[in-house]
Amino acid sequence: QQADIGLIGLGVMGANLALNIAENGYRVAVFNRTAAKTREFYEEAGSLKEQIIPCETLEELAKNIRAPRPIILMVKAGEAVDEQVAALKPFLAREDIIIDAGNANFHDTVRRLAELGPNDPTFVGMGVSGGEEGARHGPSIMVGGTPESYARIEPVLTAISAKYQGQSCSALLGPDGAGHFVKTIHNGIEYADMQMIAEVYGVLRDGLGLEPAAIGKIFEKWNAGPLNSYLVEITAKVLLAVDRKTGKPAVDVILDSAGQKGTGRWAAIEAQMLGIPATGIEAAVAARSISSLVSQRGEASKAYSGLETAKLSDDSTAFVDALEQGLLAGKIAAYAQGFDVMAGASKEHGWNVPLATTARIWRAGCIIRSQFLDQIADAFEGSEGKNLLLAPAFVERMKSTSQSLRKVVAEAALAGLPVPALAAALSYFDSFRQARGTANLIQAQRDFFGAHGFKRIGEEGDFHGPWSEPA
Ligand code: 6PG
Repeated sequence: QQADIGLIGLGVMGANLALNIAENGYRVAVFNRTAAKTREFYEEAGSLKEQIIPCETLEELAKNIRAPRPIILMVKAGEAVDEQVAALKPFLAREDIIIDAGNANFHDTVRRLAELGPNDPTFVGMGVSGGEEGARHGPSIMVGGTPESYARIEPVLTAISAKYQGQSCSALLGPDGAGHFVKTIHNGIEYADMQMIAEVYGVLRDGLGLEPAAIGKIFEKWNAGPLNSYLVEITAKVLLAVDRKTGKPAVDVILDSAGQKGTGRWAAIEAQMLGIPATGIEAAVAARSISSLVSQRGEASKAYSGLETAKLSDDSTAFVDALEQGLLAGKIAAYAQGFDVMAGASKEHGWNVPLATTARIWRAGCIIRSQFLDQIADAFEGSEGKNLLLAPAFVERMKSTSQSLRKVVAEAALAGLPVPALAAALSYFDSFRQARGTANLIQAQRDFFGAHGFKRIGEEGDFHGPWSEPA
């Protein structure tokens, strides 16, 4: 019996996705560049073996899938995808679908589609989130493609995706690069969310002098409240974990230098290219970059030792509560920015990305999954494209939490504790709600040095100022 679907690339994500597909009753033909890995994967598949067809060549793979063939690529984003597509094409027909499930840059996805000839298979760009666990038991799936190609792969995607109260976390979000773009912004938001959590950890550690386990307990408690989310949940677990080698808290033996594979950076770059503020994401990307300057930070900490800083306010219970509320406010602002970038890109590329649906398929399966996204989905229902900070439910939440964010940022600044993403979120919120900003001065400066012109309040046309340089 032929397979229903093919999968190329048996790394952690690919292997788990293949097992997930098999477990859901679909027959899957698998291929990996190194055949030994394919054999090993098959041998370890246990009772799911019956649903798996291991293939050692691409030709064999194509032969073993029932036409029209859907084939998932789960290889390293970048050149490996182009190589794999080129190697695969000779064995495929026009009706077949290549589904790139990696963390591709959406520009590459758009290019790959444009490069296809009239007799080449269809190409679908699909964002998959949820890490190893998600891939195995239900990820969030963000698809970019045509309705026809989605309709063909929808049954299997629905089956393998995460479910939120019975609803599948897989959706077609628009044509060509839309799925990978949404995944990129998902990761940008993931960066901002993680960074804000790390900043709060820093304040609790260096401001209040708490040990990891005590901080873990605080996050555990917060996870039962409005901050309930996968990231807060794992933060508590991580902080409570003990290093096997030394018996110390695990976080205390880990070098404070964050890795990044590029998707967060792409999110910030795309926001900049669109002219849409995503300062929470930008701050998070920059914070990872600063974190990597390990030796310079060591040197600077010596060079600037002895600088006077204020102590955090003494009422630590009240301050811990403010941190909870402040983190929530910061998170709302960062998510508002992320969704705004998606709305902007959607407009720019004519994608029509449904924001409520996007929030809905992020409620389960993905790394940023949370109840909070259910509220975001509700807010976008009927008011697609409007900034989240203007949705009535979020206006209320920001009214009740933003003062806590202000307190946290202000006290952290006075104590010399870095909170770049929280501060960015606060500044964004304050700028966004300022009816009369300060760009009138920027316009005057631009006109002064470059005669760039400005608009007068309530008048049509371009004007210049009275600033002729004295002779
Ligand atoms: C997910 C994650 C996943 C991965 C990123 C993060 O949604 O499952 O976002 O895609 O964790 O690769 O990448 P960094 O290495 O840049 O943190």
